[in-house]
Amino acid sequence: MAVLADRYGRHFPYLRLSLLEACNFRCSYCLPEGYRATPGLPAPLHADEIARLLRAFAALGMRKLRLTGGEPTLRKDLTAIIALAAASPGVEKVALTTNGCLLRKRRAEWQAAGLTALNVSVDALERERFARITGHDRLDDILLGIEEALAAGFPSLKLNAVLLRGLNDDQIPAFLDYLRTRPVSVRFIELMQTGTNRAYFERHHLRADALEAQLQADGWQPLPRAGDAGPAREYAHPDYRGRIGVIAPYSRDFCAGCNRLRVTAQGDLRLCLFGNVGIPLRPLLQHDDQADELQATLISQLGLKALGHGLHRGETGLTPHLAAIGG
Ligand code: 5AD
Ligand code: SF4
Repeated sequence: MAVLADRYGRHFPYLRLSLLEACNFRCSYCLPEGYRATPGLPAPLHADEIARLLRAFAALGMRKLRLTGGEPTLRKDLTAIIALAAASPGVEKVALTTNGCLLRKRRAEWQAAGLTALNVSVDALERERFARITGHDRLDDILLGIEEALAAGFPSLKLNAVLLRGLNDDQIPAFLDYLRTRPVSVRFIELMQTGTNRAYFERHHLRADALEAQLQADGWQPLPRAGDAGPAREYAHPDYRGRIGVIAPYSRDFCAGCNRLRVTAQGDLRLCLFGNVGIPLRPLLQHDDQADELQATLISQLGLKALGHGLHRGETGLTPHLAAIGG
């Protein structure tokens, strides 16, 4: 069977699919003014186009799908898309990245449709701080949604926190406290420079190294990297039920662990989060009899994937903000 691999021996069992660019939050590092529609942007892929896309990726060895955005839960047909993904042959994990705005209302429905993992953006555990970073006073509701998911035995729950100098770097003890009793992971994500956040990046970027050194000094132990681990470095501690993951895109070996491909809401294949090319797949998603051509295109495009990104040189590629490509 053909599989998705590149000329550096990396495999790509993991697809991140954006369901739409729009978002209802205003995270200060991503959409500080709120989402504004990009003029001329075509509608996001329809469910039938998504179904063809997922069939092709599944046939080429996709094992895990993440639905992202923008805010993917704003799609009315999200539950149907989850069900479609969960039913794709070979797909073992269906994950969703969300700001949590509909977590309480819809989680049970998503879970029943086959969702296996949830990443919820929670940049602070203090109500006012959360509101200042995201523009929405929703922390309590979101945390309640997470408690309910835990009580319902939801298989995998992660909180995403972007490390922000001067905005949430004093929240680390609160996150650790949270992890003491809950089987949840917190991913600390280093702020990434994008096309529109340069001044903000310079003010608030905080390297993750100091945090990792501190964690290790406090008894957090790095876990051996699983084969399919991707770029996060994971830590566990005997006194804590939860785990910590650190995502440091500026670290030297970050790209070596790359195991994911991205497809934008409009159906452009992105080989790298910070790459300069988007390969339009939408024309190949119109009829079922295009399946072979679609698979051949995916295989040949992967042959062009670069070894690493140019972020260290301030090259942010095509990405104006992460809502445009799927964080
Ligand atoms: N740098 C790092 N993480 C980001 N996210 C959005 N923009 C950035 C950025 N510039 C994160 C969000 C969310 C996920 C979708 O991506 O916090 O958890
Ligand atoms: Fe919306 Fe996510 Fe961007 Fe925040 S980080 S503004 S929740 S797309």
